[in-house]
Amino acid sequence: MRLDVVTIFPEYLEPLNVSLVGKARARGQLDVHVHDLRTWTHDRHHTVDDTPYGGGPGMVMKTEPWGEALDTVLADGYEAGHGRPALIVPTPSGRPFTQDLAVRLSEQPWLIFTPARYEGIDRRVVDEYATRMPVHEVSIGDYVLAGGEAAVLVVTEAVARLLPGVLGNAESHRDDSFAPAMAGLLEGPVYTKPPLWRGRDIPDVLLSGHHGKIARWRRDETLRRTTAHRPDLIERCAPDAFDKKDREMLSILGWQPDPEGERTGRFWRRTEDVEE
Ligand SMILES: C[S@@+](CC[C@H](N)C(=O)[O-])C[C@H]1O[C@@H](n2cnc3c(N)ncnc32)[C@H](O)[C@@H]1O
Repeated sequence: MRLDVVTIFPEYLEPLNVSLVGKARARGQLDVHVHDLRTWTHDRHHTVDDTPYGGGPGMVMKTEPWGEALDTVLADGYEAGHGRPALIVPTPSGRPFTQDLAVRLSEQPWLIFTPARYEGIDRRVVDEYATRMPVHEVSIGDYVLAGGEAAVLVVTEAVARLLPGVLGNAESHRDDSFAPAMAGLLEGPVYTKPPLWRGRDIPDVLLSGHHGKIARWRRDETLRRTTAHRPDLIERCAPDAFDKKDREMLSILGWQPDPEGERTGRFWRRTEDVEE
């Protein structure tokens, strides 16, 4: 996979040389190109921003450097024989970045990132390139960062670990939180040696060697954690997403099917809410 990042802070992307992503680069599984947007400015001050039309505080990133930068990156990638890229535009006003999107992006041959600063990029840039390639405007959370570079690191790491051969054990992301095998729910707690630490032991079942019981315990912990931390994930599960044992556990945790589910799209509710 090829990745291009255009930024005014190339040094912010240094972590792409480290750990899993760094190793994937060294092995040739990821071909990363970081570009300084100011390369495509033509004035003495290398200006990339200007005041917003309509007034208001802050500055807006200018069309011309971004247009020249993206045209150059595209020409280079096409010349190198890459397929059609997808443009990833980090913005707090984008769609939430999810594991589902990470999986879809990991199947693309080429991603181009446009992390912005100030109040963001003049809208015409996205509108222009959206006529040539798929554009994903993505938010990494409901908060506002000073710039999109941290979002690029987040998306890149989530995508890179899904590429074939990048994780040492190809099975390791199978049981991750949000994975299809987990029905999109959260992974429960994990433990390793020693079995006793500061008076704290580990659940007996994990030492039992009984695969069925261990799987059941893990599933119960998944339900426990998801109902506690992300009840919205449980609410959206299909009526048939849970087997008899799951339902028993959900009942203990105070959840039950919602008779109004077909109408509301929330198939599971806290028992106390259903009974109200
Ligand atoms: C200060 S923010 C601009 C915020 C913009 N005025 C708004 O309220 O939508 C500057 C840049 O940081 C990046 N950024 C900030 N928060 C982000 C988030 N939650 N997810 C992804 N990118 C973000 C984007 O590239 C954004 O253009």
